[in-house]
Order: sequence, then C-alpha cells, then structure tokens
Amino acid sequence: MDNTSMLQMVSSLVLILSVSSLASASLKVGFYSSTCPSAEEIVRSTVNKAISDNAGIAAGLIRMHFHDCFVRGCDGSVLLASTPGNPVAERDHFANNPSLRGFEVIEEAKTQLEAACPQTVSCADILAFAARDSALKVGGINYDVPSGRRDGRISIADEVPRNLPAPTSSAHELVSNFSRKGLSADEMVTLSGAHSIGVSHCSAFSKRLYSFNDTVTQDPSMDSSYAETLKSNCPAPPSTTDSTVSLDPSTPIRLDNKYYEGLINHRGLLTSDQTLYTSQTTREMVQSNANNGASWAEKFAKAMVQMGSIEVLTGSDGEIRRRCSLVN
Ligand code: HEM
Ligand SMILES: *[C@@H]1O[C@H](CO)[C@@H](O)[C@H](O)[C@H]1NC(C)=O
Ligand SMILES: *[C@@H]1O[C@H](CO)[C@@H](O)[C@H](O)[C@H]1NC(C)=O
Repeated sequence: MDNTSMLQMVSSLVLILSVSSLASASLKVGFYSSTCPSAEEIVRSTVNKAISDNAGIAAGLIRMHFHDCFVRGCDGSVLLASTPGNPVAERDHFANNPSLRGFEVIEEAKTQLEAACPQTVSCADILAFAARDSALKVGGINYDVPSGRRDGRISIADEVPRNLPAPTSSAHELVSNFSRKGLSADEMVTLSGAHSIGVSHCSAFSKRLYSFNDTVTQDPSMDSSYAETLKSNCPAPPSTTDSTVSLDPSTPIRLDNKYYEGLINHRGLLTSDQTLYTSQTTREMVQSNANNGASWAEKFAKAMVQMGSIEVLTGSDGEIRRRCSLVN
C-alpha cells in the first residue's frame, strides 16, 4: 500500500469513529435481545403492577430518570444509597429525599432480572425502560429505548443542585440549564410536560402564595382563584406541614398536553412552569403543545430518548450492579 492510500484509509477510519461517537455513544435498541431477551418484559410487568397499585409511581419513575440523567449522566447514580464511606449520596439531597419515589420498583425489577440473567442488565437501563413503560401506561406514549448503559460507582449530593434546575428558575435559566445537557429550548418545554402528572410539595412553590417579593405577597402571574385553592391546601408559615398537591389538577394521573392549557390559563404550579408561558422565548412552544397533543406526544418520546443518552457509560466503563442501591 502506498503512502497516499494509507493516509486515506486512516482518515476514513477517523471519520467513521467520530460519526459513531456522535450517535449517542453507541446505545442501541434491543441491546439485550440475545443476552437477556426477557429484560424489557420483566421491567414492564413490574412497572405496570406497581402503577396499578399506585398511579403516582408512574410520575415518580419518569422524574427519577430525569434526576438520574442530569446528574453525572444516566448512570443509575440516583439509585445509590448513602453509606458510611459516602454519607450523602444524590438520593439523600433534599431535591430527592423525601419526594423521589419508585426506588422499590426498580429494585424489584432488578431482583427478577438477576434471577433471569445475572449481572447483565444495568440499573441505569432498568430506569430508562421503567420511565418509558410509565409514559405508556399513563399516557399511551410508546417509544423504543436505546440501551446498553452501564452503572456508575459515584453519587454525591452536592452535585445535585449544580445540575438540577430549581423550581424558582426563569425560562432563561432553564434554557441555559438544559442546553448544558445538550437539550434544546423546545425539548425543555416538551419535557416539562411531564408535570402533567404527579405532585409537588407546597414548599416548592409556597413563596408564590405568601411571600412573593417586597411589594406583593402573591405572584401576579398566578390565577387568583387557583391561588386561593392552593392556599387552602398549603398552610401559611409558620406552619411546618408540607402537604402535596397535583402539578396538573385538570388530569392529575394522565400524561397529556392539558398541562400546557393550564399554563395559558395561569395555572402553572411552579415558577419554572408558569415562566414558560410568561417568557416570550418559550410562549409559542407552550401554545403549540397546547394546540396539538399528538405532536407534543411524539416530541415527548423523542426528547425522552435524547435525555436518556446524556453522558452515558457504555462498553467496559462502569459496571453492572447486582443491586441498584449498592456498588458491587
Ligand atoms: C424544567 C425544570 C424542572 C424543574 C425545576 C422541576 C421541578 C420539580 C419539582 C419541584 C417537583 C415537585 C417535587 C415535590 O415537591 O414532590 C417536580 C415533580 C415532578 N417532575 Fe419535575 N422539574 C423539571 C423538569 C422535569 C422533567 C424534565 C421531568 C421528566 C421528563 C420532570 C418530571 C416530574 C414529575 C413526573 C414530577 C411528579 C413526581 C411525583 O409525583 O412523584 N420534571 N419537578
Ligand atoms: C442554570 O442556568 C443559570 C443561568 O445560566 C445558572 O446561573 C445556574 O447556575 C444554572 N443552574 C443549574 C442547576 O445548572
Ligand atoms: C414584585 O413583583 C411585581 C410583579 O411581578 C413587580 O411589578 C415588582 O416590581 C416586584 N417588586 C420587587 C421589589 O421586586
């Protein structure tokens, strides 16, 4: 081989390598089809049963996948329990504890998978499948989940607030926070539609009811009769009870686009919800999602896949945990 053709071969190899690393670090649909063919069925039946017993679990699992992916990538780090050697893991940060729910469902699926195919299916993949199965069960939204994620060995509470946006964020901040994770403004608005199900503790929004700023006590961007209803469920300070209310009271256990109608009617619960309509940058996206449920659902599925590919560990990186709450 002469020098020129050698050079051509090397440079086309480099091109192939760089293109495949762009394609989300080699996750692939059906990753377990030969090593553990029942993997996705086992997760689905476990998740479906848990949601039949308690519909709120669907919300918990979709949120858990988000919290996993935004902190150290989708590596199952949110599932790791604190230990004497690592006293405050992600899941014990106040953004997760006590509100994050569904850990026992992931652990149950893992137990069944270890019996069927030991040390094969990662906890990070179980969580990605479980989020999809939840979206299907409570929203009829189905999509293929590229898999092959490996589990991380590190989980640090301090990394949570540096990566997960606060419920008081403005649209401008949210666009920036999602863009750092490779997600567009439209994907951020689309994924916020997950707030069409589940609940929030009063503490995440009570400033909007009782102590908005130095001049007004109530957030003027919130419908006043909605604010009154919320006040009756969320007692004013100094009360220390932290109750929960539905994020989308119109259809609280159905994953649909009614959330966006709520925003248009000034009935977004969190500042980070209502800001999507208040801000000129994202208002039209809210309007379009409110007008077209089918196109929102399709975008939601795509954005979940995109979110599920954030900074994943693949190949021989990380490990396949035997229990989701413990490193091997
Ligand atoms: C845009 C930035 C976001 C912020 C600031 C945010 C913040 C919050 C907060 C404060 C809660 C209430 C937790 C509680 O007090 O119990 C919540 C609940 C929830 N979030 Fe988000 N979230 C965001 C985006 C997302 C995304 C992208 C998803 C998933 C795709 C998601 C899914 C959920 C779900 C399903 C719940 C209800 C959980 C349950 O009922 O257990 N959120 N979120
Ligand atoms: C979100 O973006 C804002 C504006 O760039 C930044 O100040 C803030 O620290 C970010 N928060 C997170 C959690 O990434
Ligand atoms: C408080 O909020 C209101 C309504 O958004 C606004 O008009 C006012 O300027 C704010 N006051 C302060 C001190 O930030």
